[in-house]
Amino acid sequence: MKGRAAGQKIGITGLGVHVPEQVMTNDDLAKYVDTSDEWIRSRTGIVERRIAGPDEALTDVARPAVKAALADAGVDASSIDLVICATVTPDMLFPTSSALLADEFGMPDAAAYDLLAGCTGFMYAVAQAYGMLASGLSKRALVVGGDVLSKILDWSDRSTLVLFGDGAGAVVMEPVEQGGFLGFELGADGGGGVHLCYPGSGSRKFDDPASVLRMNGREVFKFATRVMVSSAEAVLDECGKSVDEVDVYVPHQANKRIIDHAVGKLGVPMENTIVNVDRYGNTSSGSIPIALAEARDDGRLKAGSLVLMTGMGAGLTWGSALLEWSGTSAGGGIA
Ligand code: ACO
Repeated sequence: MKGRAAGQKIGITGLGVHVPEQVMTNDDLAKYVDTSDEWIRSRTGIVERRIAGPDEALTDVARPAVKAALADAGVDASSIDLVICATVTPDMLFPTSSALLADEFGMPDAAAYDLLAGCTGFMYAVAQAYGMLASGLSKRALVVGGDVLSKILDWSDRSTLVLFGDGAGAVVMEPVEQGGFLGFELGADGGGGVHLCYPGSGSRKFDDPASVLRMNGREVFKFATRVMVSSAEAVLDECGKSVDEVDVYVPHQANKRIIDHAVGKLGVPMENTIVNVDRYGNTSSGSIPIALAEARDDGRLKAGSLVLMTGMGAGLTWGSALLEWSGTSAGGGIA
């Protein structure tokens, strides 16, 4: 699915992010599995990641991000009429994490639901919020992207354990005078879903229900290098923009090698590309908002900047959005 934005301009007016306090280095992980700092750095670019505590669930990680996003937008929680939380690790399937957050923050008029699209969740969620806002159905939306994948990893599987971290981001979306989303491209390939799956997590019962994430890394790598490029090119083409016009490129932070490949193929200068996978690992639905906040906080994201965001992940899914940054406040950093 792809389309160019039309009519009312819809933008991001508030952005907040949060990661858990506990830092886990590559050497720390070598205590659980047979791996090394050298292997992880050279194959993924990851140096450390944040891991939620035993009692921390998704809403605990998302709560400070939501608070910061509302403050950044300067709006009352009660004015939010739509909450979409993109996650594959909600506190529980229901009540949904979005409904729990809406209740905690006091959003009595909000429709609230969770959205499942793997690491692409945040891109799907902003596209859905865009549609509801542009049609006038929603007046002001809160989109949360976050995951605590550490809770569903197999802590004895070195091929997945070293890749992921926990974190969340939130944005307020609403009509804007300047800037806003220019277009989206979203896709899915259920046939490839087997390469990144969470068997036993739903109604399909297996003899041996594996309640942990499973991944065929090489297949996901091939998929990722393909769609990170094709999806970005499709949304640029749809919006009549060239890659030279992109000021800030925010790729999903899965692996530095995947980012390097996309940067090379697309021809985006590295200085315009946001990379923080070294410090946070792959935070799934949290990855793009966390990287966006980093760009805002280090001054690379300015009012009027053309921002290209591309995510990919379980499903298999992918999604891109092109956005002219409307400008939020200086932000409070990655708390
Ligand atoms: N430490 C040490 N050795 C390891 C580790 C580790 N952590 N993991 C794998 N190895 C070994 C393998 O066993 C293999 O050994 P062998 O040759 O004796 O069999 C060797 O290293 C090479 O393994 P490869 O899988 O070929 O390594 P590769 O260079 O492909 O890197 C990686 C693996 C990092 C997983 C890569 O394939 C990748 O990044 N894939 C994409 C993953 C991804 O992006 N997932 C997120 C999707 S988003 C979402 O929705 C969650």
